[in-house]
Amino acid sequence: MRWTVSKGSLGTLAADLLILPVLEGKKGPDLSGVIDLAGGHGSLRGVIEGAGFTGAATSTLPVHCPGLKCGWVLLVGLGRPDAVSLEGLRKTGGAAALAARSMRTRTVLAMPTLAVTGYDDETVARCWVEGAEMALAPAGPSDARRSKGDGPGTWKVLPGSADAAAIRRGLQQGESAAMGCLEARRLVNLPPNQLTPRMLADEARAMADRVGLKCTVMGPAQLKRLKAGGILGVGQGSENEPCLICLESKSAPKGAPTVALVGKGVTFDTGGISLKPGAKMDLMKADMAGAAAVLGAAAIVATRKMPVRLVTLVPSAENMPDGRAIKPADVLNMASGLTVEVLNTDAEGRLILADALHVACGKKPDFVVDMATLTGACAVALGQEFAGVMGTSGELIEVLEQAGGETGERVWPLPLIDAHREALKSKVADIKNLGAREGGALTAAAFLSYFVPDDVAWAHVDIAGPAWTEKTGPLGPRGGTGFGARLLARAVELLVD
Ligand code: BES
Ligand code: MN
Ligand code: ZN
Repeated sequence: MRWTVSKGSLGTLAADLLILPVLEGKKGPDLSGVIDLAGGHGSLRGVIEGAGFTGAATSTLPVHCPGLKCGWVLLVGLGRPDAVSLEGLRKTGGAAALAARSMRTRTVLAMPTLAVTGYDDETVARCWVEGAEMALAPAGPSDARRSKGDGPGTWKVLPGSADAAAIRRGLQQGESAAMGCLEARRLVNLPPNQLTPRMLADEARAMADRVGLKCTVMGPAQLKRLKAGGILGVGQGSENEPCLICLESKSAPKGAPTVALVGKGVTFDTGGISLKPGAKMDLMKADMAGAAAVLGAAAIVATRKMPVRLVTLVPSAENMPDGRAIKPADVLNMASGLTVEVLNTDAEGRLILADALHVACGKKPDFVVDMATLTGACAVALGQEFAGVMGTSGELIEVLEQAGGETGERVWPLPLIDAHREALKSKVADIKNLGAREGGALTAAAFLSYFVPDDVAWAHVDIAGPAWTEKTGPLGPRGGTGFGARLLARAVELLVD
């Protein structure tokens, strides 16, 4: 969808439907912000009150208004002014978009100023667009209920008393954020035979071309030169060769910080020789959700032209059992020079991330964030609503917490101390890839920390819980959630501010 600010007024616009957000007042709907839009259409108040519409959050009601040029108004409740939140605005935008979906019509969205809620016009517009785009996203290519032909192709926004320039900025930000999120979802939802490591690299290259980033892909020959035994080891049981994908800013302002994002790109995780049980193994097509998130974030950062030197690294492999596959007791030589004893081939994410983190740190970054569907333990501990965050930089962890609070992709800190690192010492190699079953998310992070020099500000985000949802919700269908793309882009924005 395209979003544009309209210069017209309600009286002159060619439209068949006006979407009208309404706050919930103490007694009935609060119309102070919206009535000015109607300029000369005083009947609007009577219509809203007559319909018995209260403005309760995410409620919608279409009403026929023969007195208005557009004929139909879709009332959308924002809830009480003091209870409005960023996520609430997204959900309201989503509810409005879903309600208007079946109306094949020229739609105009009224965007009154919501100053009483404490949110400025830019923020309201941004969240609204994000919510609408996320709610309307298809579950897959053949999702008829949410097909492309539905709903208006262009959304016109009528600023009313709000600041048109601020709304325009908000619309652009929202479109960009939603694009990154939906791109991440699309990649996660692709079947694993249509998204091998090579195909993921092709997708990354196409995205890089679209948004103006440089893309390089290292295949097995180059990975051998890097001695990237982690990526090569995990990939060696598959017909589909592993790779390391790198997206980089083409240019950056002088003095701009370097931020590295690293995302786990296991295009399918069978567990390898330590084979997973069959039940729900299909969900392991989503084991590249970290990769999808960092690629989506890179696309947002690039389209927003943030002043940063961004380095995005995606180690990608298919984890398969095979005559050539790695097996428990193998020892791998990693790119950093460390040796790793493989005790469980299903703990593969940390092996490929280790090499990618080593390469990332070679770029002398000011901040490194990796994102991965790394452990079932993290999902057990924190559930679907929270990702776990661990790392070596309190500042970076706080930035991620703030960013997630704003984007509605929440992260929760988990501990990482020397004892967790000690637990990974091996008798036959420097470290082993398996710790105790208890605290599995923590030892996974501790493993990664061996590949990040002490002086690098690093955080690891485990998204095993929130990357996928079985339930269709107000902001999207069952499937990949796109979790992390908007979060990381916002974190980058906070870091360069
Ligand atoms: N990709 C899985 C983690 C995962 C599990 C993500 C469920 C999403 C949902 C990861 O590669 C894995 O298999 N981890 C093992 C680690 C264990 C062998 C130490 C796990 O969590 O069981
Ligand atoms: Mn695994
Ligand atoms: Zn995995």
